[in-house]
Amino acid sequence: MTDTGTLRQRFAARFGGGGTAFFAPGRINLIGEHTDYNGGFVFPGAVTQGITAVVRPNGSGVVNAVAADLGTECSFAIDDPAGPADVNYRYLYGIVRELCGRGVAVEGFDAVYGGDVPLGAGMSSSAALESCFAFALNSLFGGGRLAPMELALAGQATEHRYVGVNCGIMDQFASVHGREGCLMRLDCRSGEFEYFPWQPKGYRLLLLNSRVRHTLVGSPYNERRQSCERVAAHVGVATLRDCDWDMLEAARPGLDATDYRRARYVLGEVDRVMAVSDALGRADYEEVGRQMYLTHDGLAADYEVSCPEIDLLVDVARRCGVSGARIMGGGFGGCTINLVREELCAAFVDEARRRSKAESGVECLPIEVAVGAGARQID
Ligand code: GLA
Repeated sequence: MTDTGTLRQRFAARFGGGGTAFFAPGRINLIGEHTDYNGGFVFPGAVTQGITAVVRPNGSGVVNAVAADLGTECSFAIDDPAGPADVNYRYLYGIVRELCGRGVAVEGFDAVYGGDVPLGAGMSSSAALESCFAFALNSLFGGGRLAPMELALAGQATEHRYVGVNCGIMDQFASVHGREGCLMRLDCRSGEFEYFPWQPKGYRLLLLNSRVRHTLVGSPYNERRQSCERVAAHVGVATLRDCDWDMLEAARPGLDATDYRRARYVLGEVDRVMAVSDALGRADYEEVGRQMYLTHDGLAADYEVSCPEIDLLVDVARRCGVSGARIMGGGFGGCTINLVREELCAAFVDEARRRSKAESGVECLPIEVAVGAGARQID
């Protein structure tokens, strides 16, 4: 639920009227997967789906939050050192604590929030939640003092310290910095980024949700990161971004074979983001798509974060002549991102539905995406 009017009604019914509404989006990622925590490049964009929250300071030291979509409510004191046990509210608790730690004098508040980022699709509903509240609290209690990248870092720290997912910065970065009609290429080593207008004439980006529920909490995501860190330490560099192909091959005899394959994927992916940037400069979308397929192959075979239901959707894309397709986000389920020539869209979706239902037993769900703006106050 994101409709501001409905959320305001809920807020009025529970807490009385008033409050300010904020929104932050989920994200897509064209290419550059599992590169962020390796100091590499990512190429995300914010979407128009996200989390909306109505928030009002309540003059106490307590936060009262209603998750409208879950039909639950939670209260916690800002200075409670443990915070709520329910993982759904640990994002909010983490953001409160992280903003306090960054010098924002967060006081008690009441909030009702809801969203329309499909859960478990790999579109970063959790980053949307973190960014929405980071933006809201920075604005209500910090006079907007914290820079956007600080808000993104607060979201990432929330995942690390309060949820247990050692994620990179991509999702929170995209949710905070999104710009309508633009993808962004972020260098995760330097923090520098550029906006790339995304108007692929004659093509559409289409997500197919496998409906294999993706969650990074408790998944092998952290193990993937550890593999990369082991290789970097062995090679003697800070992150795999600083490791080139010769260095990796020289180190290979001393590396665990699985760790080597993980690193091989990452080095390839860093190269692919650059190839895609060049191809975009020439408006060569067929090349962009070719690189996306290569990413999928690496994520499936070397990084091992795909699953049969997703591989099936990528196979359908290949057979239908779709320009590019791959698993998107952290992996272990979720959706594929597809670059499709417009005239192919309808037939592709029909075929993906038919085959997923017949072969996986669960019909995939197409998700329309438009590239939207980042975290903001809406009224
Ligand atoms: C998740 C994480 C990101 C990133 C992707 C994989 O979305 O939150 O930081 O690592 O997986 O690219």
